[in-house]
Amino acid sequence: MDFFKRHFMVALSAVLGLVIIAYVGAKGNLQLIFGVVVPYLAVLIFFEGLIYRVIKWSRSPVPFKIPTTAAQNKSLPWIKKNLGDKLDNPETTGQVVGRMALEVGLFRSLFRNTRTQLLSTTKQSQGVQLVHWSYKWLWLGAIAFHYAFLVVILRHLRFFTEPTAGLVHLLDAVDGFVVFFTPTVFMSGVVLVAAALYLLSRRIANPALRYISLAADYFPLLLILAIATTGILLRYFYKTDVVAVKELAIGLVTLKPHVVAGIGPLFYVHLFLVCVLFAYFPFSKLLHAPGVFLSPTRNTAGNTRWVRHVNPWNYPVKFHSYMDQEDAYREAMIEAGIPVEKELK
Ligand code: HEM
Repeated sequence: MDFFKRHFMVALSAVLGLVIIAYVGAKGNLQLIFGVVVPYLAVLIFFEGLIYRVIKWSRSPVPFKIPTTAAQNKSLPWIKKNLGDKLDNPETTGQVVGRMALEVGLFRSLFRNTRTQLLSTTKQSQGVQLVHWSYKWLWLGAIAFHYAFLVVILRHLRFFTEPTAGLVHLLDAVDGFVVFFTPTVFMSGVVLVAAALYLLSRRIANPALRYISLAADYFPLLLILAIATTGILLRYFYKTDVVAVKELAIGLVTLKPHVVAGIGPLFYVHLFLVCVLFAYFPFSKLLHAPGVFLSPTRNTAGNTRWVRHVNPWNYPVKFHSYMDQEDAYREAMIEAGIPVEKELK
């Protein structure tokens, strides 16, 4: 089996294995395990793991100032910087916040992604030509994926809040504005599946990407695809008793957990996959979500020309002055004919 197949099959079998475990468990009346114990365990692992990782990150010293800069730094007063320059080489905390907001909210650096390619020209005499072009598809796929995911999660708050928050009703109305099926189709669910499929196929179709992709890259995408697919099946094809689901969910969040009758096994598969995603989150590449806020390449200002960056590894700095040096080696220095500040007494 080649490299790609091995890694892809590991991820695919893991997801299918999880589906089977939850289905068999729910069929075998293990609702208490899959509806109560596993969700609590997942939330516990998620928060513990997240806190552990964030503490570990924030403790790691930043020996150098390393903001990624792509514009002119503060210089002579007559060299003007426009807003783009300020975002690409922020001088103040305000500019860092602006840069971070655009990065997190709009994936700005991904938007500026460029590709370099060798293209054969039509005229044979010219051979090949180096072209640089702006590559936007990854940005579009990524932004669609993340926003669809966010909307789906926010809409799910209707299961966990009583009365349902106004924001959820608003999202339901906006998300379901194209009415062509009953129940109303939520666009975010469809976009989530389409975007995840695009991201997965791009990873597989591009030979360079496929070469560097591991099971840990396929697994989260396949897991999210399985979550969204089971959710779509639950809503449109094998309808579940949402009142019972809400009772179970409210029981969990109010810490009065109890098993609720009348919920089919497909729901437990959906819930179990979500639990695995949460428990897996702190140990996976998905951690880039909180990580972007802690990245010194993004969250620091490029102000090294006027603010001294202190390396926290050796602060307060233990330095050895020239006089200490001379005191230690004065005799040897004089003997070697090296000039000294103070003569021997
Ligand atoms: C990462 C978290 C989750 C994702 C990505 C997700 C995804 C989805 C999607 C895409 C749908 C299709 C309908 C729609 O677009 O809303 C859906 C439906 C559903 N999900 Fe989730 N889900 C998540 C967590 C949960 C949790 C924690 C529960 C437990 C309460 C749950 C229960 C349901 C139910 C009952 C449906 C059917 C809804 C209906 O009939 O209207 N989901 N899910």
